[in-house]
Order: sequence, then structure tokens, then C-alpha cells
Amino acid sequence: MKLEFPKGFYWGSAASATQTEGAANEGGKGKNIWDHWYEIEPRRFYDEVGPGKASEFYHHLENDLKLLNQTGHNSFRPSISWSRMFPKGYGEVNQDAIKFYNKLIDGMIAEGVEPFINLYHFDMPFEMQKIGGFENKEVVNHFVKYAETCFDLFGDRVKRWFTFNEPIVPVHGGYLYDFHYPNKVDPKAAFQVAYNTILASAKAIAAYKKSQDGKIGIVLNLTPSYPRSQHPSDLEAARISDLFSNRAFLDPSVKGTFPEGLKVILERHSVLPDYSIEELEIIKKNKVDYLGVNYYHPHRVCARTTVPNLESPFMPEFYYENYEMPGRRMNIYKNWEIYEQGLYDIALNIRDNYGNIEWMVSENGMGVKDERRFAKEEYIEDDYRIEFYEDHLYWLHKGIQAGSNCIGYHVWTFIDNWSWMNAYRNRYGLVSLNLKTGTRTIKKSGYWLNEVKTNNGFEYKREWKLGE
Ligand code: BG6
Repeated sequence: MKLEFPKGFYWGSAASATQTEGAANEGGKGKNIWDHWYEIEPRRFYDEVGPGKASEFYHHLENDLKLLNQTGHNSFRPSISWSRMFPKGYGEVNQDAIKFYNKLIDGMIAEGVEPFINLYHFDMPFEMQKIGGFENKEVVNHFVKYAETCFDLFGDRVKRWFTFNEPIVPVHGGYLYDFHYPNKVDPKAAFQVAYNTILASAKAIAAYKKSQDGKIGIVLNLTPSYPRSQHPSDLEAARISDLFSNRAFLDPSVKGTFPEGLKVILERHSVLPDYSIEELEIIKKNKVDYLGVNYYHPHRVCARTTVPNLESPFMPEFYYENYEMPGRRMNIYKNWEIYEQGLYDIALNIRDNYGNIEWMVSENGMGVKDERRFAKEEYIEDDYRIEFYEDHLYWLHKGIQAGSNCIGYHVWTFIDNWSWMNAYRNRYGLVSLNLKTGTRTIKKSGYWLNEVKTNNGFEYKREWKLGE
């Protein structure tokens, strides 16, 4: 069966500044929280490899831009590093950063690759973190100034922007579950950071609308919440997990309002963030033009079997337990369930509950541990990854046929990159990176994406059986 995608469909990949650029201490860049955290706790990082060099995109730019063209990109989403633009997070803009990002944007356009630029991918400037990061509303205003500067400098050529990538992740990692700096376990701070990030996004959108004519959105990682059963307690568990994991960001971004029920729970646990009526008005008035959805795995939950310890810090898991469905298929390297149909469910949810807003898959991918063990003279035949993409595209296509307004599909990621605490453990790229030599070699999936882009679709062979 030939799967054909809508005319003008965006194909490509996403990446992020801290994970790819390298040159962490060059070109006038200031430290961000990752540089700092690695300095003080290198053991938290796989093989003690930090973000200093990453994939050296900064130094390999010309060559890498050609690779974009050869691996099926008609669009690409890198992020700008706030601490490269403003080493302290505010003040004088760094001229070397302007030169680098101009080169990047112009280079992409010259290769026929439309830029989708993201302003924030987990990388708080360290000087901003010192004054509280997004716990502090002053930092929100510094972020907006940084965003405005980027719009002024690059907005003539960049017509697609994102304010944040997965804003829930720094909340979880930095303030609840201890996997990002500043490693607090502090629910009150967590919900303040979440709220302030939503406010920062809305204020940046307001600034954008004043002077620019393109589109601006936000990238959210959506994890459809599936209940173990139809028992009312399991359904309630799924409703609450959906509230915290998805709707807390999706509703204010797309509808301008917070979902009902969230405030009650936050008040009950004394973790309601500090907010004002004026701020809620700003959020209401400045909704996204379009949405990026990162989809990796679903979230299966069931009713709790134990009473939570009321003395322990409040976590959304007070209301549900994670459920390990028997027979689920796993990506064992990342411990994430593979459930392609989740993409179809997301497509229909956006169609039915979010005004069928324009959206795209802004990340979807499969990390494989030590993937270079499969390399034959540098070349990697990653058929497993191609299969993963094709199966997800099958369900996405079904969603589009059902009327969902999806305009593109970006994979994670372009070149194997440094993955936060996992460093280079799992590889995701369309292009493989030899860490010793810096050599880049297109994988089979890179050639595959090029074919898919050229044909705006592909011949799909798998037949889905009921219950898969
Ligand atoms: C996404 C992030 O959540 O997942 C990326 O936007 C990240 O930055 C990707 O790299 C894969 O996760 P990980 O932890 O394996 O790198």
C-alpha cells in the first residue's frame, strides 16, 4: 500500500544546541546548567562524558548542512543556545553567536531546508539559574528579551518558531525526580517553574506578534494516558495522569486556559503557583499558532494499591501507579514502550479536542545502545529504525486521513548526539558519528528518509493484526 502524505509535507529532524553544537567554551558562550552540572558532578553522566564537545556541529557546520540535504530534510529544527546569545542570560548580545546562527540559518536555506527554530531546549544559562531559573519571574522577562532579540535578528528568514521544547521535562528533572540540575525535589517550586514557563511562552508569543509575520508554537512531549481497565478507579487514574502529563501544558498553550480540576489538586497539596489575573489574561490572549508533538511512548496507568505517604513531597503519582501491560513491546535500551498507534490517538485528540490546530510530529525516534557495534566500515544498516519510523508513519497517515491537520514529521535526530545524562550511550541519528575521528556516515535510515521525502511517501508492506 502506498502511503502518500499531504502536499508540502515537512520532512526532516530535530536537534538541540547543547546536544550538538559543542564549542561549549568557545565563541563567547556562557555556561549553561549542563556545563555547570558536569563540572561539579561528572559521575552523573554516562561514561563521565559531558556536553563540552557534543557532535561539534559548531565546527562542522558546512559539511553537516550538506548532510541535511542528503538525508531527506526539507526542514530542520535546531535550537538556539540562550547562553551563547547572552552569556549571562541578559545584557549585551554576543556577536559571535549572531554570526554562527546567521551562518546556520542561511546555510539551511541555501540547501533547501526550511528552518524551524526552537528557543529553549533544557539549557538554562547558569547565571539565570543562580537567581532561581524559571522559579523567578525576572528570568521570565529575560527569556522574553532573548526571544525578541532572536526574532529581530533572524525573523526575516525564519518563519517557523517554537518557544520551548518539552517544558515539562526540566520541571520533572530539575524539581521532582532528580534527573536535571538543580536536582531539587520540591513540588511547590516544580509547579511554579511549570507555570512560569507557560507564562514565558505566552509573553514570547505576544512579543512575536508585535513585529513578525510567521508562525510561532511550542513543542510538547505528549504521552497518551491509557488506563489498565475500564474500572472507574483506573479511568480516574488515567484522567489525572493526563491532566499532569499532557493537559497542564497543552490546554494553556492551545486554548489559553488551564484544565479544570488541576487547580483543585494543587491547592489541596499546597503547591499552587503564585499567579495573577493579568498573567492569566496574557496566557489567554497569546495562544500558539501551531503545535509540535514529540512522541516516543504512551503512559499506562492504574489506580493506586497503596495510600501515599502524606509526609513525602507531593508527586502526581499520589493519584496513580504506572502500569506495566503484559505483552507490551519495549525499546529495551531506553526502557520505553513502543506503541505506534499512540500517534493516531494523538492525531484524533488534537482534531477533536483542540480545534484541529495545525500540528506536526516534531520528534519521534529510537535510541539503540552501542549502535556502532553494527557498523560495517562505518556504515550502519539500521533496518530496525526504518521499521520503527514506517510503523509510526502508518498510524500518523491514518490520523491525517481521518482529518487531523498534521503538516510534518521530524525524527530525532540528525547526527548521533550527546544525550543528557546518557551521553553517547544510545544512538538516534540518521547519520552516525565516530567519536574518535569525528567522521560522519549516513546510515541506511538517512537514505531511507531521503527517498521518503522525494516521493512524499512510501510503499508500506506490513499488515496490522487486531490487538497489535
Ligand atoms: C526528547 C528530547 O525528549 O528525547 C531530546 O527532546 C532527547 O533532547 C530525546 O535527546 C531522547 O531522549 P534521551 O534521553 O535518550 O536523549
